[in-house]
Amino acid sequence: MKAVVFHDIGDIRLDTVADPTIEQPTDAIVRLTSSAICGTDLHMIRGTLGGMQPGTVLGHEGVGIVEEVGRGVRNLRRGARVLIPSTISCGACSYCRAGYTAQCDTANPNGAQAGTAFFGGPASTGPFNGLQAQYARTPLAGASLVPLPDDVDDDRAILLSDIFPTGYFGAQLAEVRPGNVVVVYGAGPVGLFAIASARLMGAGRIFSVDRVASRLDMARTMGAEAVNFDEEDPVEALMELTGGIGADRVIDAVGVDAVRAGNGGNGANGVDGVNGVDGVDGKSARFDEEVQEITQGRGAQNGAWQPGNGPSQVLQWALKTVAKAGTIGVIGVYPPNDRFFPIGEAMNRNLTLKLGNCNHRTIVPKLVEIVREGAFDPLGVLTHREPLMNVLDAYRAFDAREPGWIKVKLEP
Ligand SMILES: NC(=O)c1ccc[n+]([C@@H]2O[C@H](COP(=O)([O-])OP(=O)(O)OC[C@H]3O[C@@H](n4cnc5c(N)ncnc54)[C@H](O)[C@@H]3O)[C@@H](O)[C@H]2O)c1
Ligand SMILES: [Zn+2]
Ligand SMILES: [Zn+2]
Repeated sequence: MKAVVFHDIGDIRLDTVADPTIEQPTDAIVRLTSSAICGTDLHMIRGTLGGMQPGTVLGHEGVGIVEEVGRGVRNLRRGARVLIPSTISCGACSYCRAGYTAQCDTANPNGAQAGTAFFGGPASTGPFNGLQAQYARTPLAGASLVPLPDDVDDDRAILLSDIFPTGYFGAQLAEVRPGNVVVVYGAGPVGLFAIASARLMGAGRIFSVDRVASRLDMARTMGAEAVNFDEEDPVEALMELTGGIGADRVIDAVGVDAVRAGNGGNGANGVDGVNGVDGVDGKSARFDEEVQEITQGRGAQNGAWQPGNGPSQVLQWALKTVAKAGTIGVIGVYPPNDRFFPIGEAMNRNLTLKLGNCNHRTIVPKLVEIVREGAFDPLGVLTHREPLMNVLDAYRAFDAREPGWIKVKLEP
């Protein structure tokens, strides 16, 4: 079969690999009808989320048809149409029963303390071959896969595999309540669904911070007020717009590849931008140290796949724009070796910080119903549909944040 394979930082290829087979009685083999490219894939290719095993098939978003099931799968048969949640969970351990399916005790072969198991990720997450492929082996299939109703089509269902539930999880972590003022950093696909979710939870006002005009336009159409951090100081702007109080709830939907302020719009990810103002107080040197420590100098070169140049930028802004005693929800991914969080500032303002990987299996069924009933239509976020043959070009456009490239569905 054809699959997108991780070879090295900055080196992914569309290869021909062996078809997956049933390895455990709880496995299913799914023929993918849709997959997608995600910001999390970019961290791995840029080298900011390390530990990838060469040869791993990438991708953790999928919809497909069950081809074959092991004898331990009792609820699905060949031919069933299913959504594959990004994270894998058993449904039987105490964490799964309590809804913390991203912290399942049994899904990760590295052991109960190893953390989240997901498709197409670093060695510490499995590793499991991913879903940017024609077929996939899905472990713990009976508990993990979500059967899809016919009236939720693939274009919508693929958005429910990871990014909509993650945005929803971000709004849950941030404890969004009716009337709240919410700031969402990042207007990528995940940030946009955090905006949509905050709205579903009754937020009063929602601000969206990014620097990509087409993404901020989309945020506006989803009901947010836009702040472009290349054009103004986002901290000053947000404090002014919130009556000097700040936001009750802040969501970080950016993660480790955050771009620092003051880049003036240069370069795909602003890496070749001007350090100007930041340089004066030594902030840019500190950001450089963060990047160096996180990537250990392995960041990709040649313009593409550039790591963000301000890993803690969003966390710093989040602390400065959240109201006293407010809550910050972090869904942006940070690697285990990232230790840059301004804890003193958070402590002294009585903040609540909640973070983590989305408990997909707990959230997805509810969102499938919301979409089926038509209470919210996620389709607007899907901007591109590409055959798997075009995947490398699609990856480059998404990595470079080309105008209008927000979410890419792949058709294997
Ligand atoms: N926690 C989870 O379970 C989970 C699941 C899926 C994705 N994620 C993470 O969510 C994050 C977003 O994913 P995505 O697919 O939307 O990625 P993306 O790369 O498409 O979007 C990130 C956006 O952040 C913007 N950005 C960069 N620096 C910024 C800054 N300083 N302030 C504000 N915005 C800034 C970029 O311009 C971009 O639009 C990633 O870190 C991804 O790994 C987490
Ligand atoms: Zn994803
Ligand atoms: Zn479990």
